[in-house]
Amino acid sequence: MTAGKLPIVVLISGGGSNLQAIIDAASNDMPVAIRAVISNRADAYGLERAREANIETVVVDHTQFDSRQAFDTELARVIDRFGPGLVVLAGFMRILSDDFVHHYEGRMLNIHPSLLPKYKGTNTHARAIDAGDSEAGCSVHLVTTELDSGPVLHQARVPILPDDTPELLAARVLEQEHLIYPEAIRQFAITRLK
Ligand code: GAR
Repeated sequence: MTAGKLPIVVLISGGGSNLQAIIDAASNDMPVAIRAVISNRADAYGLERAREANIETVVVDHTQFDSRQAFDTELARVIDRFGPGLVVLAGFMRILSDDFVHHYEGRMLNIHPSLLPKYKGTNTHARAIDAGDSEAGCSVHLVTTELDSGPVLHQARVPILPDDTPELLAARVLEQEHLIYPEAIRQFAITRLK
């Protein structure tokens, strides 16, 4: 059933609207098989979205571990059970240890709500508005050990409007995230499957 498809695992922490865009693309023509959705929070709404799509879900609750290393070791053990060719971070709000990142080097993507290299980290929309920028956007990048600094594969831009709030801007950017993340994953999968 999944022949000719790249197995992927998606990591989330929250609402999972990007996950939904990936699920929708996978149920159309994107050549990936979503083997599992893993969350570090049991209350992440994205888990509901996964269950709705009959995708296996796992919670690895970071508060149950004594150290980042211990959490990352367990997380990698769970991920590897599903044999992914690509690990997709979709609103996964954990800093990852170097060992973890090295383990998935070249096969882990993240989406970040800014025009990288601008505004790494959090509060990206407020920072773009406060800086008086005329545009904002989102970036899909390969994950490397330095936070939000890996090679950028895709970006989309939106205007910042005169009366923008971080919430309004976030919604405008999120619409673009839902377009470019499936596209970036599609291209990664096609290249890998060749
Ligand atoms: C998205 O805006 C994503 O870019 C951001 O979290 C949101 C998750 O939304 N990710 C980061 O800030 C990572 N540093 P979603 O759960 O609805 O996909």
